[in-house]
Amino acid sequence: MLRLDLSNLDPRRVGAQGFGLDEALREEKKRLEAARDALWQRRGDAAEFLGWIDVPEDTEAVRNVLRYRQANAWVEDFVVLGIGGSALGAQAVSAALGKGPVRLHFVDNVEPEPILELLRALDPRKTLVNVISKSGSTAETMAAFLAFRRWLEDALGAGWKEHVVVTTDPAKGILRPYAQAEGLTAFEVPPAVGGRFSVTCPVGTLPLAFVGVDLEAFLAGCRKANETAQADAEANLPAQTALVHDRLSRKGLNVNVFMPYSTRLRYLPDWFVQLHDESLGKAVNRAGEEVRTGTTAVRAIGTTDQHAQVQLFREGPHDKLITLVRLEEATEDLEIPAVAGLEALDYLFGRSFFELLSAEAKATAHALAKAQQPNFAFVLERLDAYTLGWLMQHLMWQTAFLGELWGINAFDQPGVELGKEYTYALMGRKGYEPLAEELKAEGVE
Ligand code: PA5
Repeated sequence: MLRLDLSNLDPRRVGAQGFGLDEALREEKKRLEAARDALWQRRGDAAEFLGWIDVPEDTEAVRNVLRYRQANAWVEDFVVLGIGGSALGAQAVSAALGKGPVRLHFVDNVEPEPILELLRALDPRKTLVNVISKSGSTAETMAAFLAFRRWLEDALGAGWKEHVVVTTDPAKGILRPYAQAEGLTAFEVPPAVGGRFSVTCPVGTLPLAFVGVDLEAFLAGCRKANETAQADAEANLPAQTALVHDRLSRKGLNVNVFMPYSTRLRYLPDWFVQLHDESLGKAVNRAGEEVRTGTTAVRAIGTTDQHAQVQLFREGPHDKLITLVRLEEATEDLEIPAVAGLEALDYLFGRSFFELLSAEAKATAHALAKAQQPNFAFVLERLDAYTLGWLMQHLMWQTAFLGELWGINAFDQPGVELGKEYTYALMGRKGYEPLAEELKAEGVE
């Protein structure tokens, strides 16, 4: 179960920074429902990249993943080679719900020292390497693949092929034909699913299967978010949180803090930051006009960041919307013991850690409101696969709604291309000589 607590958006609590949700819903009903209808209607068109809506309905894909997991019971270490949308979703979910005993590792950077450290720590005979790249052309991922493939071959000879599994586009890119030529097992990233929307396809489900996440429940939660995204505005939860973002960005609140009160959810903000920023930071709208949309998502963790960022959130510039995620129930709790001689702490004696965590989340939300800092909360009944799936699919919907409301394409990322091309030029890739010359002339070598 997931619900929204929107009380700290009310102008009676946060003054002019806030807004009345009921009134806004009445005013924006047509616009929100038009956005909803446009998204549902366009989802059959692969070019629209709305395939993530239907992926949680595809139970056969997840059964394939589970069969593969069962057939590979020997795996002790599972290494994901992937970056951005090809890593962050599985990282977020596995940190929250992964049970082991398989250890999951993510190589999403090309800094040599951590890669060497991992290669030295792993036993190739017990390691499965999952190279995940929809395009098959991402330099960071492919460099890591070249290194891990060599490492496996050096240790296992022709047996390396049993230790690599590929996740890529069914047709495009170099990985698919390579996997076919080498006889590697390969899973599909559906063509109509972009990287940051791909946690429900094998990009996310394959690593998650190896750490025992209940994938059926996770996808059922995603389907629940789909159900809420079909409702009329008054009951359409993703449309409502998108409306909150839209309203407050129009008031100049352009920083968007995402703050779960949970260490287990510590990687969820990283996933959300990429989803939100890469989708919504766009120079032009669908009509080709310069619009420069976007709000800047910022990562925070409660309670940790109460002692780091909350000072700024309460007293710094009024430029933020804060999204909290809090839990209603602990999975397991711990009593805080009484200790003689420390009676100054008696308000803690006999209470539980979860009680303290909940009190801190509510207290901080209220203290933020007192400083006229709008905030709202996703309240999760508990942290389980169903609820986390619901939340993540909700956030994908929220992003898609915002793309519609702002008239932009939320599913591309043209702004990252030039940096990639400059990298190719600096690395001497064929075809990039003119760019290398340009860089040289501009003092970049
Ligand atoms: O969301 C996206 O599309 C990106 O973040 C990609 O996931 C990222 O660039 C990695 O791309 P690929 O899977 O093609 O290697």
